[in-house]
Amino acid sequence: MIKDKNIILGVCGGIAAYKSVELLRLMKKAGADVKVVMTSSALEFVGELTFKVLSENHVCTGLFNSGDSSVRHIEWASRADAALIAPATANMIGKMARGIADDALSTMMMAVKAPVMICPSMNTYMYENRALQRNLDILEQDGVIILEPGSGELACKTSGAGRLPEPELIFDRLVKLFHPCDMKGKKVIVTAGPTREAMDPVRYISNHSSGKMGYAVAEAAEKRGAMVTLITGPVSIAPPFGVELIKVTTAHEMANAVLSSMDDADIIIKVAAVADYRPLAPRENKIKKDQMDSRNNSLTLDLVENPDILKMVGERKRNQFLAGFAAETENLIANALAKIKKKNLDMIAANIVGREDSGFEADTNKITLLSKDGSSKELPLLSKQQAAHELLDHILGKIKHQVLAR
Ligand code: PMT
Repeated sequence: MIKDKNIILGVCGGIAAYKSVELLRLMKKAGADVKVVMTSSALEFVGELTFKVLSENHVCTGLFNSGDSSVRHIEWASRADAALIAPATANMIGKMARGIADDALSTMMMAVKAPVMICPSMNTYMYENRALQRNLDILEQDGVIILEPGSGELACKTSGAGRLPEPELIFDRLVKLFHPCDMKGKKVIVTAGPTREAMDPVRYISNHSSGKMGYAVAEAAEKRGAMVTLITGPVSIAPPFGVELIKVTTAHEMANAVLSSMDDADIIIKVAAVADYRPLAPRENKIKKDQMDSRNNSLTLDLVENPDILKMVGERKRNQFLAGFAAETENLIANALAKIKKKNLDMIAANIVGREDSGFEADTNKITLLSKDGSSKELPLLSKQQAAHELLDHILGKIKHQVLAR
């Protein structure tokens, strides 16, 4: 989303200024053109050369030392697609709130028309100071996005709010600025990952779901402004920022979590690969080899059907949009269409699996979006992030259509 975007990165003087270097690296890696503006105090903490080398651009450190004839603070400001100040000190926040422009960064911020995000970072008492909070309120009213500081041990040996959030979180929130906010106010439940069904205390039945597809859907919805609850089976990937995370292990736990949070949801998207069966009677102790049938070296496990969560949600849903996924190795469309009917879905993403580039564990996915109204849209092979956005576009289109038809 930020490829080729012009971003101003303002760096103020604080011990957390070193984190801005990593933040710059993340932005550059994503293809942004980053122009760094440092205050004179920032120069006391990190060298200009570091930002110059990493940004591959001049670094603006003062109003009168640009080294060329351009009016840099105006030129950069007018070209910016977004401006980010991290760390933002009490001094800079005060200046921005009160319209004071007495150095390169504060002057540039007066001229920026693009979205502005600031990351306050300072000692806890300074952060809690009423004047600072008043200034933050003013900036918020002016449309500045404020990323709250984290809590923890600070450089001044006190503990509390004031830490600059990690660069990955700041970067994630910056990227969010470039997404459409077309899901604002919508509550979305996404399920992801596999479930595990115990055979004994050390073994289980499960599947290869990595959670990548479900996590991509949750992340895309959150970036588009939705309030997202992500109900996830055990996976080893990091959850998206900003979602409510509910961790479950078994199909029963997932069913309880979905059913107890579904009533106020607008959209429910079931990406999880739920184990259809579980061992009837998981053993209390580890199954030993001598418990096998010695005649043919086999072990018989009785399996019993798990609850079909999607079907239960389909029976209970009121005016809510319900989307399922169908993982199929054959008869993709016919099998997926049958699930729309059987489970009372509004749509299903028919997902071809068993290929290296699609389905379980892959970074890309090949899905066809099928709706209960009979329409279908076959998507090309896409990254799971792109597929997630296509899915959400499709869902929003269908919801709009349903509202108009009512
Ligand atoms: O996690 P990844 O590695 O990224 O892989 C992504 C994926 C392949 C798991 C995903 O894209 C996908 O296809 N998910 C659906 C997997 C599946 O269980 O398909 P199914 O056809 O067996 O089930 C159909 C639907 O019913 C699914 O929405 C499933 O969540 C739901 N279901 C199934 C069984 C059950 N007991 N309860 C359910 O709710």
